[in-house]
Amino acid sequence: MKPRAIFTKKVVTPTGKNYRRGKDMNSLAMYEDVYIVYDEKILDITKEAPGVNVQAQVNLVTPGFVDCHTHIPFYGFRSKEFIMRSQGAKYVDILKAGGGIHYTVSKVREASENDLVDFNVPFIREMMKRGVTRIEGKSGYGLDVENELKQLKALKKIKEKVSVGITPTFLGAHAVPKGKSQEEYLNELAESFDKFKDYTNFVDIFVDDGAYSVENARWYLKKAKEDGFKIRLHADEIARTGAAALGVELGAVSVDHLLKITEEDIKLIASSETVAVMMPSTSFYLGEEYAPARKLIDSGAIVALGSDFNPGSNAINDPTFVFHLAVSKLKMTPEEALTAFTLNSAYVLGVSESEGSVEVGKSANFVVWKVKELEDIPYLPSHDVVDFTVIKGEMIKNS
Ligand code: NIG
Ligand code: FE
Repeated sequence: MKPRAIFTKKVVTPTGKNYRRGKDMNSLAMYEDVYIVYDEKILDITKEAPGVNVQAQVNLVTPGFVDCHTHIPFYGFRSKEFIMRSQGAKYVDILKAGGGIHYTVSKVREASENDLVDFNVPFIREMMKRGVTRIEGKSGYGLDVENELKQLKALKKIKEKVSVGITPTFLGAHAVPKGKSQEEYLNELAESFDKFKDYTNFVDIFVDDGAYSVENARWYLKKAKEDGFKIRLHADEIARTGAAALGVELGAVSVDHLLKITEEDIKLIASSETVAVMMPSTSFYLGEEYAPARKLIDSGAIVALGSDFNPGSNAINDPTFVFHLAVSKLKMTPEEALTAFTLNSAYVLGVSESEGSVEVGKSANFVVWKVKELEDIPYLPSHDVVDFTVIKGEMIKNS
């Protein structure tokens, strides 16, 4: 790719190759009236006019959003369940009654690998246009070895069709399949870890009321670690089970959701290297409480943001809306929210060395905004505020 440049009135970005925790999440670098020179990577950020084609003059540039928690690829919708919940039914009761995740499992089992690809690519294109430059995608709607592998294979195919970076995660332990005990199914999965290893380095598990117990998660995740996986947990979302504490104990990369964590859990997370992943659009979509992001940051935790885009608990995939909720509901500053949704979420996915900030040497992954200030982004949720997204140097137009 030939080097090119844009001229921007402002660049706002966290810096570094590692996470930022606690109050450091607030400190961003700001450059004014600079050229960003790039091919697949950022080559220079300079006041000097570069000797290359200047493609655009723009107002504001930030790093691309790294959405470190999505449930792509899924198949089919659960709009009836959404209406049921709106009229008073609870997410966990629908799950326990065999609906919820199990409904999507039946749809995913029926779908072919190509069906999964075709169904999910349009959602990813929407996300790219709205500023997302990398997503995580999880299996978890197969609930048997064959169908879990099908989801991971579909993710691999999706990767060939879209420019966005994709980090796959094996979430075989997303629900307990009908007719099997937790122990029986987890054993089956653990015995097949080598098959999943061909597709991903991450193992995730849903530890909660209606899903897996802390006791079973402990041995399952220990085995995953022994087999060389990094581990993540859906933790303390529906009930306080001690899943976040387990994640810290086992050195998990992240504990996600955390709506029900205690003061004690906050201290544990804050003194660890385990990232607290907040997904306020799920709280919003379910009409549930919000995770204690403010307390986590004030206690020194590493906090990241993700969408949790999935067909059940959250059908929202718009990063500017997540950004809005991070500020309005999680009480994060715009600076903290930006760090959480770029550098720290890149860290969760193991790519902060090369992504997550606008810096020389990193991938040319950034968002060019129509608005002028960072605060304008959370202020204008779901407006058409992205001018274009750049992924590995390629311009993705928002039109
Ligand atoms: O992260 N909490 C568990 N898993 C998903 C929901 C998946 C679904 O309902 O299909 C979540 O919210
Ligand atoms: Fe999730």
